[in-house]
Amino acid sequence: MHKLFILYLFASIASAAPSTSHCRCRPHESCWPSKQKWSGLNDTIQGNLIAVRPVASVCHAAEFDQAACKDVTNNWSDSTWRAAQPGAGQWENWEAWPERHQTCYIGSAQNTACGQGRISLYSAKVQTASHVQKAVRFASTHNLRLAIKNSGHDFLGRSTAPGSLQILTNGMKDIKFVSNFMPVGAPKGKGEGKAVTLSAGVNLAELYKAVAEHNVTVIAGASHTVGAAGGYIQGGGHSPFGAWKGLASDNALEFEVVTADGNLVTANAYQNSDLFWALRGGGGGTFGVVVNVTVRTFPEVPVIVANVNITTSAGDPQFWNALTEWHAALPGLNNAGGSGYYFGIPDMPLNATISVSSVISLLMFPEHTDTSAIDRLYAPLVKSLQSMPGVTVQYGAFGLPTMNSTIQTMLLEGNADTTSGMTTLVSRLYSKDLLLSKDGPSRLSKTWSSLRFDPGQTFIGHVVAGGAVAANGNKIDSAVNPAWRKAVVHLLYSRSWNATTTLAQQHAIIKNATEVEIPLIRSVEGEDQMGAYLNEAHPYEPGFQRSFWGDNYPRLYTLKQKWDPKGLFIARKGVGSEDWDDAGLCLSN
Ligand SMILES: Cc1cc2nc3c(=O)[nH]c(=O)nc-3n(C[C@H](O)[C@H](O)[C@H](O)COP(=O)(O)OP(=O)(O)OC[C@H]3O[C@@H](n4cnc5c(N)ncnc54)[C@H](O)[C@@H]3O)c2cc1C
Ligand SMILES: *[C@@H]1O[C@H](CO)[C@@H](O)[C@H](O)[C@H]1NC(C)=O
Ligand SMILES: *[C@@H]1O[C@H](CO)[C@@H](O)[C@H](O)[C@H]1NC(C)=O
Ligand SMILES: *[C@@H]1O[C@H](CO)[C@@H](O)[C@H](O)[C@H]1NC(C)=O
Ligand SMILES: *[C@@H]1O[C@H](CO)[C@@H](O)[C@H](O)[C@H]1NC(C)=O
Ligand SMILES: *[C@@H]1O[C@H](CO)[C@@H](O)[C@H](O)[C@H]1NC(C)=O
Ligand SMILES: *[C@@H]1O[C@H](CO)[C@@H](O)[C@H](O)[C@H]1NC(C)=O
Ligand SMILES: *[C@@H]1O[C@H](CO)[C@@H](O)[C@H](O)[C@H]1NC(C)=O
Ligand SMILES: *[C@@H]1O[C@H](CO)[C@@H](O)[C@H](O)[C@H]1NC(C)=O
Ligand SMILES: *[C@@H]1O[C@H](CO)[C@@H](O)[C@H](O)[C@H]1NC(C)=O
Repeated sequence: MHKLFILYLFASIASAAPSTSHCRCRPHESCWPSKQKWSGLNDTIQGNLIAVRPVASVCHAAEFDQAACKDVTNNWSDSTWRAAQPGAGQWENWEAWPERHQTCYIGSAQNTACGQGRISLYSAKVQTASHVQKAVRFASTHNLRLAIKNSGHDFLGRSTAPGSLQILTNGMKDIKFVSNFMPVGAPKGKGEGKAVTLSAGVNLAELYKAVAEHNVTVIAGASHTVGAAGGYIQGGGHSPFGAWKGLASDNALEFEVVTADGNLVTANAYQNSDLFWALRGGGGGTFGVVVNVTVRTFPEVPVIVANVNITTSAGDPQFWNALTEWHAALPGLNNAGGSGYYFGIPDMPLNATISVSSVISLLMFPEHTDTSAIDRLYAPLVKSLQSMPGVTVQYGAFGLPTMNSTIQTMLLEGNADTTSGMTTLVSRLYSKDLLLSKDGPSRLSKTWSSLRFDPGQTFIGHVVAGGAVAANGNKIDSAVNPAWRKAVVHLLYSRSWNATTTLAQQHAIIKNATEVEIPLIRSVEGEDQMGAYLNEAHPYEPGFQRSFWGDNYPRLYTLKQKWDPKGLFIARKGVGSEDWDDAGLCLSN
C-alpha cells in the first residue's frame, strides 16, 4: 500500500512538472513579468513597446468605438495597413485561436466579446538591431513565447502566436546600395559586385521602386507587401524571373542576425557559414531575427511577355486535355528562359447562364527583344491547341523596355495586395522530368481534374524554377528543398472559410486536405518524390519536414540545436517545431 502510494505521488509530480518547466511562461503565472519589468523593457527600446489587442476589437462589445471601427472596416483588406498593425496578421484564421474559442472576426456580431486569439499580448516595434537584441533577451530571460512579425503574410501561421511577445520588424525600412559588396571576412579581391542591403521591414514594392531608381533589378516575388528580408527570402523566395537568375535566396550574400543568445552576428560564406546555409531556405522565425540582408542586383534588361489563353465550355473534358498540352510544352518554354504564372479556372461563370473553363498564362523572358523568336517558340503549342475540337486559343507576345516596366505593369497591380479572409493552401512541386515523361502531363491533368473546384475557384501554377534555379543546384549549397532544383512548377489552390464556419467544419476541410487531397496530388510523382514550398503550403502538411526540406532536414535540425538550443524561435511547421505543441507553448514530451 505504502509503496504504491509513493509511486502514485511520484507519478503525479512527474506528470505535473512538464506543464510548468516545459512550457512558456503565461500571463496567469507568477513567472510572468511584472508591470515594472515590461516598463523596463519599454525604456530599453525607447518607448516602442505596445500592449496589443486584435484590430477588430474596436468593433465589438465593451470595446466598440464607432469611428475606430469604421477605419478598421475600411482598411480591412489592405495589406499595407495590416502589415503595420501589431494587432493583425494578413489572414484572419491565424489571428484567431478557434481551438480555444478565441476569435475576433470583424464579421461576428457586435455583441460578441473579442478574444485575443493568436494575437501577441505585447509588441516591440523595433527600429534598430539593439531594440531586437533587448526584446530577444527579455523573451529569453522570462521564458516567453516569441513571435516575429514582418508583414504577417505567412500562410502557415508562423507570424502570430498566443500569449506571445511580438517583435514587429515592419518599421525597419533602410535600403542601401553598394557598388562592390565585400562580405565581412572575404579575402581581398573577392568583392561580389553590385548589391543592396535591406533592413528587416523593407517590402517588395519598396525594393522594386528603389532598384528602379538605381537603374538595376533584383530577384524577388510578385507582391507589394511581402517582406524582402523576412520569411520570403529565408524560406527560399521564388520569383517570376527565377529561370533567369535563380531563387531570391540564391542571390543573398550576407545576413546580420540577432541569435537566441541576444548577440548580433554576421552570416555569410566566410563566417558563420552554417547559419548562412540555414538562413537561405531553412525558413523564417527559426534561427534568429534577421536585421538586414544584402542581395545581388543585376543590370536592367528588356523583357518579352508572352500570354496564352485556353478556353473551353465549362465541364468539357477537353479542358483537361488542353491542360495536358500546356504542361507538355512547359519545359520547352521554361528552357528558353520563360518563367511566370498560369491560372486555371475549371468553372468560370461569365454571366448567369454561361460558364467556361480557362487557363490564362503569362510567362516572361528577361533579356529578350526578339518577339518573333518567342512566337516561333510558342507556335507548336498554339497549333496543337487550335487543332483540338472545342478549344479556343488566344496567343500574344510583346516586348517591354525594362524589368521595372514589366514588374510595374504586369505584376504589381494597385497599391497593395488584397488579403484578410480565412484561407489555407494545398500545393505541390512538379518536376521537369514528370512533364517530359510520356504520360506525366496527362496523369497530372487526370489527378487535378478529380479535385473539387467551386465556381470561380482557381489553381495557380508558379513557373518559378528551371533555368538558373536548376543550374544553381550545382553552384549554391543552401538549405532550400533540393526538389526546387528539379522543379518546373509549384502548383497550388486554396481551401477557405469564414466567420460562420464552425470548428468542426474547419476540421473537416483540413482533414479532407490532409487525407484526400494532398495524397492525391502527391501520388502524381510518387509520395516521397519532390515536395511543397514551405511558404505556400498546407498548414497541416503531413510529414512537413520531408515535404519542405527533403534530405536537408537532418542537418537543419542539428543546426537548430546549435544556434537555438532552448527553442526560443519556434515557427509553426518550421525546423524543430515538432518538439512543441501546435501553438509553440509546451514541449510535446
Ligand atoms: C500576396 C502574396 C504574394 C506572395 N508572393 C510570393 C512570391 O512571389 N514568391 C514567394 O516565394 N513567396 C510569395 N508569397 C509567400 C511569402 O513568401 C510568405 O507569405 C512569407 O511568409 C512572407 O514573409 P514575411 O516576412 O513577409 O511574412 P511574415 O508572416 O511576417 O513572416 C513569415 C515568417 O518569417 C519570420 N520572419 C519575418 N521576419 C523575420 C526576420 N527579420 N528574421 C527572422 N524571421 C523573420 C516570421 O516569424 C514568420 O515565421 C506570397 C504571399 C502573399 C500573401
Ligand atoms: C511605452 O512607452 C511609451 C512612451 O513613453 C508609451 O507611450 C507606451 O504606452 C509605453 N508602452 C507600454 C506597454 O506601457
Ligand atoms: C485606415 O486606417 C488609418 C489609421 O490607421 C486611417 O487614418 C485611414 O483613414 C483608414 N483608411 C480608410 C480608407 O478608412
Ligand atoms: C545592417 O545591420 C547591421 C547591424 O545593425 C549594421 O551594423 C549595418 O550597418 C547594417 N547595414 C546597412 C547597410 O544598413
Ligand atoms: C540603365 O542600365 C542599362 C543596362 O546597364 C543601360 O543600357 C542604360 O543606359 C541605363 N540607363 C540609364 C538611364 O542610365
Ligand atoms: C451570357 O453571355 C452569352 C455570351 O456572351 C450571351 O449570349 C448571353 O446572352 C448572356 N446571357 C445573359 C443572361 O446575360
Ligand atoms: C487573355 O485573357 C486576358 C484576361 O481576360 C486578356 O486580358 C488578354 O488580352 C487575353 N490574351 C490574349 C492574347 O488575347
Ligand atoms: C518604373 O516603371 C513604371 C511603369 O512603367 C514607371 O511609371 C516608373 O517611372 C518607372 N520607374 C523608374 C525609376 O524608371
Ligand atoms: C474532399 O476532396 C475531394 C477532392 O477535392 C472532393 O471531391 C470532396 O468533395 C471532398 N470531400 C469533402 C467531404 O470535403
Ligand atoms: C461561409 O463558408 C461556408 C462553408 O464553410 C459556406 O457554406 C458559406 O456559404 C460561407 N458564407 C459566406 C457568407 O461566404
